[in-house]
Amino acid sequence: MRLHEELSEKVHIAAHLHDIGKIGIPDAILNKEGKLNEREWEVIKRHPQIGADILSKSSHLAKMKDIILYHHERFDGLGYPAGLFGQNIPLGARIIAICDSIDAMTSIRVYRKAYSLEYCYLELEKNLGKMYDPAIGELVLEHWKELIRTIGTKMDSDNP
Ligand SMILES: [Fe+2]
Repeated sequence: MRLHEELSEKVHIAAHLHDIGKIGIPDAILNKEGKLNEREWEVIKRHPQIGADILSKSSHLAKMKDIILYHHERFDGLGYPAGLFGQNIPLGARIIAICDSIDAMTSIRVYRKAYSLEYCYLELEKNLGKMYDPAIGELVLEHWKELIRTIGTKMDSDNP
């Protein structure tokens, strides 16, 4: 994306910290096998705000708080917590949303195996402009072969 180095570093650090707010969510909900009920889902949806609140207490990390706050927004406006859409979602949050989905799909969960890379590619493609910024998503798909080299390695070690 040829981002300015400073922005790229900001997104990098935000990516490491994006789910820090989950520290405030009970383990019973985070690790629950099977479907979450509506009340549990409401609790999970608080993690971006909890994360942003944590970051706002540090003068160095506060500049990433909006990326953390909006990492579950969707390009079509159907995400949370604010229902922002399109370019109103901070760029870093739009990038992390895609990376987070790829990581989630290619990781084992207590309730399922990892999805295949082919499935992951098709899901991304299907959701361009819906869940994901189409411009960023197209770039990911364009560079898929390079990307899956690292993801493939991760999957090999995750899926013995
Ligand atoms: Fe999250």
